[in-house]
Amino acid sequence: MKTAVAIIGAGPSGLLLGHLLRQAGVDCVVVERQAADYVLGRVRAGVLETVTTGLMERLGLDSRLQREGLIEEGFNLATDDRLIRVDVKALTGSHVTVYGQTEVTRDLMEAAESRDLQVIYEAKDLAIHDVDGAQPFLTYRKDGADQRIDADFIAGCDGYHGPSRKAIPAAVLRDYELAYPFGWLGILADVPPCHHELIYANTERGFALASMRSETRSRYYIQVPLTDRVEDWSEERLWDELAIRFDTLSERGVTRGPAIEMSIAPLRSYVCETMRHGRLFLAGDSAHIVPPTGAKGLNLAASDVAYLAEALIAFHVHGDEAGLAGFQARALARIWKAERFSWYLTKLMHRFPTDGAFEHKMQAAELDYVASSETMQRSIAENYVGLPL
Ligand code: FAD
Ligand code: DHB
Repeated sequence: MKTAVAIIGAGPSGLLLGHLLRQAGVDCVVVERQAADYVLGRVRAGVLETVTTGLMERLGLDSRLQREGLIEEGFNLATDDRLIRVDVKALTGSHVTVYGQTEVTRDLMEAAESRDLQVIYEAKDLAIHDVDGAQPFLTYRKDGADQRIDADFIAGCDGYHGPSRKAIPAAVLRDYELAYPFGWLGILADVPPCHHELIYANTERGFALASMRSETRSRYYIQVPLTDRVEDWSEERLWDELAIRFDTLSERGVTRGPAIEMSIAPLRSYVCETMRHGRLFLAGDSAHIVPPTGAKGLNLAASDVAYLAEALIAFHVHGDEAGLAGFQARALARIWKAERFSWYLTKLMHRFPTDGAFEHKMQAAELDYVASSETMQRSIAENYVGLPL
């Protein structure tokens, strides 16, 4: 098979890029290792910036998002006994939308066929060839048969563990990493949220987040040591812990119910500055990871894709190479700012095992300052809704 852009990965980055290219008439194919149902089963992000909802709108794929998404005009930072509301709407004129990553992915998947976007699922043993040359290609196995796709460009949208970044020689790859000494244990359940807006809490027992997917579905997270495994946590124990942290802070208190999903994700900051190598481009989690505090991961993937789609369309439709040459610098300028914000909120809201009484006083003083300063709140709100493209 021959195509203009071979896209590796059918997560949000790969599917968004595929749709944007097809909308502009650029030929492309998406190749995914997993089955579609497996991709949809991964419960991840829940808060969308207007950059991300704007892309769905541009594609004309936002009707369910418009109907079911919850507009959030504010969110809360909290200590054990104090809620600090950040009035995002008043401070920025903008808002975020609560709509799950699984729903974004489903909307993109379901529209693929009618938009003539080919997505090949269950492609095994994918390998990337000749990205340094003029005609790169992919090989993989599908239903036991060897397959090959020749392309002008390869887009690596295959997440942190995918093969694209690994195809860049170590001698030219420049990256930066920070690992945090804890993870987030998450639970999804069909119970009403404890509060009508998100609460990020720094409590004596550690960080906790009260989020939601709808008025009847809640998503909660708590900070856990890296040594904890999901099996160490019964649902009962997790609900008890959430009740301690949120019952007095929230409007309704925590409603318990059977878990639809429970999982632990480690926290990491990572940036691969080499987002282009020859004819290979990286976008989304293949190039960067943010700790989830601040909900930037998926939104950053969307902005990478907006830049990359623009550059690939300019090349294929108008023969203009400037966008491709400038892609990396343009994407990194936004990535580093989102990395900074996620790192800042992570440091402010978590209990680090190495922190002592002084660091706790610093966190308390900073939160007290945020509570009293509109300037601080505006800066936080501006980053939370997402910096402009
Ligand atoms: P991914 O969603 O990882 O998609 C990559 C795709 O590539 C996958 O479908 C994968 O199967 C495929 N792939 C990998 N290898 C191959 C291969 N060899 N061949 C073909 N296909 C391949 N962000 C938030 O904002 N809030 C959160 O709460 C949050 N929680 C998260 C929890 C976890 C466990 C993880 C991993 C991430 C979380 N994120 C969160 C981040 C957010 O989900 C990601 O930023 C987002 O998924 C990035 O999209 P992506 O398409 O770039 O990568
Ligand atoms: C959710 C996840 C986040 O990382 C975040 O900052 C806010 C909300 C969520 O899954 O709902």
